[in-house]
Amino acid sequence: MKNRKTPFSHFLKNFIVLLVISIKIAAATKGILHDYGDALSKSILFFEGQRSGKLPSTQRLTWRKDSALRDGFDYGVDLTGGYYDAGDNVKFNFPMAFSTTVLSWGIIEYGKSIGPTNLKDALEAIRWSTDYFLKATSINGVVFAQVGDPNGDHNCWQRPEDMDTPRTVYAVTEKSPGSEVSAEIAAALAASSMVFRAFGDRFYAKVLLQRASKVFEFADKYRGSYNNSIGAGTCPFYCDFSGYQDELLWASAWLHKATRSPVYWNYVSQNMKNFESFIEGSMSEFGWDAKHAGINVLLSKFVVNQSLEYTTPFLSNADKFVCNVMPESPSKSWGYTPGGLLYKSGMCNLQHTSMTFLLLAYARYLKNTNRVIQCDHVAITPKRLIHFTKSQVDYILGDNPMKMSYMVGYGNKFPQRVHHRGSSLPSISTHPEHIDCKGGTPYFLSNSPNPNLLIGAVVGGPKSDDSFADDRIDAGQSEPTTYVNAPLVGLLAYFKARS
Ligand SMILES: *[C@@H]1O[C@H](CO)[C@@H](O)[C@H](O)[C@H]1NC(C)=O
Ligand SMILES: *[C@@H]1O[C@H](CO)[C@@H](O)[C@H](O)[C@H]1NC(C)=O
Repeated sequence: MKNRKTPFSHFLKNFIVLLVISIKIAAATKGILHDYGDALSKSILFFEGQRSGKLPSTQRLTWRKDSALRDGFDYGVDLTGGYYDAGDNVKFNFPMAFSTTVLSWGIIEYGKSIGPTNLKDALEAIRWSTDYFLKATSINGVVFAQVGDPNGDHNCWQRPEDMDTPRTVYAVTEKSPGSEVSAEIAAALAASSMVFRAFGDRFYAKVLLQRASKVFEFADKYRGSYNNSIGAGTCPFYCDFSGYQDELLWASAWLHKATRSPVYWNYVSQNMKNFESFIEGSMSEFGWDAKHAGINVLLSKFVVNQSLEYTTPFLSNADKFVCNVMPESPSKSWGYTPGGLLYKSGMCNLQHTSMTFLLLAYARYLKNTNRVIQCDHVAITPKRLIHFTKSQVDYILGDNPMKMSYMVGYGNKFPQRVHHRGSSLPSISTHPEHIDCKGGTPYFLSNSPNPNLLIGAVVGGPKSDDSFADDRIDAGQSEPTTYVNAPLVGLLAYFKARS
């Protein structure tokens, strides 16, 4: 029997060989076979390149060294640690906290299936910010909002290791409040506490959660925007455009998730109405400034399938978000590049990966329900949402008209001239001499690829026509940030487990 070959089986064999070849060709041209595991590990590694403070012996991006070891000292506090925001060396706590919240959310949802090494690295990435946020909130009635004078910093092209620009400390207090930055830090502490509770450090989780509720109380009791309190320190860099009301609700939603205390649930339910004038019409954004859609998706999980579904606005608001974003929705307010990438004009388009993250979270919460989202006459299923989010991730990894990956070190073709001081200047291990403020300018202007690979960094990304210049001077396209990578970690974790 074994050796009997009929013409038909011969045909079948040839057919299968042909089929395999054509699938491989299709994969090669469409790039559909992505290594999500590789991209995931790298997306976490990126955070090591952004580290401020004393680096541990386990540091893998070894071209980076200790930096900013006196942050806060002139003010009598230790504010060392935390992350540099992007291609510069300022520690902007507002977006840093948002990155931490979203990074934690991704690990809460998908951390179980990423394997022990990725999990360990992700926990370390989260702890690098939470250790810092514990320092930034250690004094009653004060929240440190930022370290580093952004104008001084942006005027120079200097490695973090030999920075000599003013490390100005900005604080919000009872008298000059900053509810957005304080509440976002509270959200980050609450979300990260859930991560450490789930993955093995219950003591640390408790410390984080206690601090989260204390910082939230401060944010809520002394209301105001840090726009007005620290002014030029934050505007026009991370000006709070959308008000602080969304961060108060967002922090409370996270505290509800972490504690299940009715206090926080009631806070959200009551203030959702009080804050309505601030919330109206904003269900089309999710990012370091606007949390409205995030609040509704996060809380949708608690009401889906329950009688609460119809007495709370969370599901209908989350549906609105879906209809504002999805390409087939008649009421969408977002644009797309011809290659299919979610696009809004402005700098750093790939920061909107956070929107994709939110769609995936919502799709997962709706799983096993019969809910179909109706955008006028177009029906959108959770399955379709997942399919869409995969298309956005695949675009970033290489399924795009430029046929390149937007993640440094992933794939064969990726950005070479990343707008990043540390990555574009020689490492102090190869060039120990001090490079002063303007001494870095020739490196900034050079057309050469960056000498140090900031592995895993995802840059601002292409223009509206899918083109990408790979030009260091064009910060909008070539600068990485923590809040581009943070949501991507969660997305990649999900797709790694299912590939
Ligand atoms: C913060 O400042 C920006 C720019 O001046 C302004 O558009 C925005 O409304 C301010 N936000 C708050 C909450 O005051
Ligand atoms: C919702 O209801 C469906 C159908 O009754 C059930 O299969 C599913 O498990 C429920 N989902 C949740 C999240 O409770």
